[in-house]
Amino acid sequence: MRQSYAGYEITTEFSEAAEHTTHGIESFVEWRMDSFDWLDRALETDPDCVFASMVKGLLLVTARSQNFAPVILECIDHGESRKEELGEQERIYLKALKAMSEFQIFEALEAYESLLRFYPRDLMATRFLQAELFWMGESRWMHRVMKNLEPDWKPEMFQGSYFYADYSFAHEETGSYEIAEKFGRMAVEMDPSNVWAAHAVAHVMEMQNRSNEGVEWLSSLSKNWNEKNQIVHHAWWHRCLFHLERGESQEVMELLSLEVRNPDSLRVKQFPDAYVDLQNTASLLMRMELAGIEVGENWSEFVPLAESRMEDYTNPFTSIHALIIFAKSGLHDKAKSLILNMLAFTDLDHGPLGSTYRQVVIPLAEAFMAYVEERPEQVLEKLVPVRFILYRMGGSHAQRDLFWQLICRSALQLEERSLLKQLNSEIQDFGFSMLEKRKSYKGVF
Ligand SMILES: [Fe+2]
Repeated sequence: MRQSYAGYEITTEFSEAAEHTTHGIESFVEWRMDSFDWLDRALETDPDCVFASMVKGLLLVTARSQNFAPVILECIDHGESRKEELGEQERIYLKALKAMSEFQIFEALEAYESLLRFYPRDLMATRFLQAELFWMGESRWMHRVMKNLEPDWKPEMFQGSYFYADYSFAHEETGSYEIAEKFGRMAVEMDPSNVWAAHAVAHVMEMQNRSNEGVEWLSSLSKNWNEKNQIVHHAWWHRCLFHLERGESQEVMELLSLEVRNPDSLRVKQFPDAYVDLQNTASLLMRMELAGIEVGENWSEFVPLAESRMEDYTNPFTSIHALIIFAKSGLHDKAKSLILNMLAFTDLDHGPLGSTYRQVVIPLAEAFMAYVEERPEQVLEKLVPVRFILYRMGGSHAQRDLFWQLICRSALQLEERSLLKQLNSEIQDFGFSMLEKRKSYKGVF
């Protein structure tokens, strides 16, 4: 029997199971912490509710950890065992889940796009599609998707705020800052707890070097985020960037231990090795060092997070941050082992992930090792040729800016004036304004 809830056709005999599944989906769309609780409740009510299993599997895929692979496979097996009973929508979700479990990302993207052609207001498919395109660095594609979907949306529609948050972020990453800010602010007005919309506007402020507004914007909204998931840590990371730019190192230090990565927080307890925490902490400590702030012992605290990524290739952007933590903690052998592991992975994986590791992450990792070993010539040798394909490892312009800072600092050390002039113009092309006034580029431009 099929139950219809909020645009989802769910195969189950129990309306309660379908209801719990849609609550799980709504929670995911709204970046809340209780998505898995609802999905588990759906499966307790009806262990045959395959859609709940598939949503769970897909949520675990977005969590990007090899540790979840066994549960993801169980979710797939569950779907396969009852495939004949499923509706078309459920079958396409199953196809996406299988594709993602094998890193066949383009197949999954096609599955999400076909779901959205069938039902353009499927916010779960929209979010999965945005997430996968983000990790592929495909911001133009993401932008196109949102433009395709926009005619089917109106602000007053259920969870409209969350569509406009996705719409805002896609515009921000493609440099349409005015539209991004307008729709991001609108989404926050519609739902002040919409942390993804707040985050999109913070990105605009980061690109335009509006640090004072950034601090004010995020601090005024953070009280609404109590029920939200790990994305809150990343929003605090953005706030730290604004404080860094204002030269407020004490605030950054406090926020790092209280908000960006606090082992006592519920979010950290729920997912102790969340990839976003690893990225936020490695990136923030590195930026603090570049700003001349002594962080010394702080690095070693995050080594366990990096260790969980020694043989995990689910997310290239996370791997490079794990390497940063090893290298900056003085664990050069571990960092070099990680590079060897990544190399071995490229022999095994001939899909998009293997290619990203081979073409981007490994040269970047070698450049970073050269940076910590004070070999600026090799930093440039490795990093300059790949600078325009760094986007392939995913992340945002704001996150990848760290690697442009490393190129610039190495060029400065070598007094490569003509390269610096070129870099200045290239960084501005990505949308970063007021480079000469930024503390993050102090002494460089
Ligand atoms: Fe961000």
